[in-house]
Amino acid sequence: MESSDLKKIIQGIPKAELHLHIEGSFEPELMFEIANRNNIDLEYDSIESLKKAYKFNNLQEFLDIYYIGAQVLIHEQDFYDLTWAYLTKVHSQNVVHVEIFFDPQTHTDRGIGFDIVINGIYRALEKAKHELNISYKLIMSYLRHLSEEEAFKTLESSLPFKHWIDGVGLDSSELGNPPSKFVNVFEASANHGYKLVAHAGEEGPVDYIWEALDLLKVVRIDHGNRCLDDETLVQKLLEENIALTLCPLSNLELKVIQKMEAHPVKKMLQRGILATIHSDDPAYFGGYMNENYYETAKALGLNNDQLMQLAINAFKASWLDSEAKEKHISQVKNYFNTLNL
Ligand code: ADE
Ligand code: ZN
Repeated sequence: MESSDLKKIIQGIPKAELHLHIEGSFEPELMFEIANRNNIDLEYDSIESLKKAYKFNNLQEFLDIYYIGAQVLIHEQDFYDLTWAYLTKVHSQNVVHVEIFFDPQTHTDRGIGFDIVINGIYRALEKAKHELNISYKLIMSYLRHLSEEEAFKTLESSLPFKHWIDGVGLDSSELGNPPSKFVNVFEASANHGYKLVAHAGEEGPVDYIWEALDLLKVVRIDHGNRCLDDETLVQKLLEENIALTLCPLSNLELKVIQKMEAHPVKKMLQRGILATIHSDDPAYFGGYMNENYYETAKALGLNNDQLMQLAINAFKASWLDSEAKEKHISQVKNYFNTLNL
């Protein structure tokens, strides 16, 4: 297939994004604009020199830069502008539903109020719901390099905004910070009505995926790349219909895989795993949803049925109600039917 045809097909698919860190959608142009208006000196003297620094050998090297970028976010308007820029971008890519992460501790640790962060994000999400017809869920992530006690403080701060938050997640430096470190705060979060997800098996071993499922009781796994190493785990994912939110360009940029042709998503689909594709931190990894679909489809030779399955899986794995899921899934099927006419 011509690459322009593949791009056109991908553009037209109604898509759901389930793995996106809003701070990771911070494009250098907007970062410099906000840094200037907040009188903050970024450690880089131009957009070009910042972009040149976007070369990572592992997750930690990326996180070090990601946390520097986030430091320019001070006011509610900054969080609003960040979120709105992301939403208009993905709207242009025919993304119709998003479930996005935010990292409160990245900001509260710098003295920014939880309310400032969430008010800005929420206002942009509501505007997108009304003006762009994008539905959304919001997920608050605990930073796993910090203590469980710190996560408990974040849980406490979130409670006045509980009605805006659908779930909690676990992100940041995976190695050495296993899910088991957060058992109590995940249990408490569930008791407050939050749904549960966690990053696991991105750089970490299969054991971390087991811990996320058995100890934290998450309903889906963010990444989970390594699951094919463990047949018992594959059986569990299949029996319990547990989704993996994969991020191929992120995996490539963070050297989780050495080349796109080595990405496990095609094998996962062939095994019937509820695998989905997302963008993680698109401003840092060279692509939003369409680019992730495109690079994966090109490298692995995904056919239209596999592209359709990826899109359907994301709606199945989403936290939409069953009526909305059905509506989106039939739109995806109709889209592919018309392509085949
Ligand atoms: N925070 C932002 N992006 C992340 C990733 N890919 N893994 C872990 N934590 C993150
Ligand atoms: Zn992530």
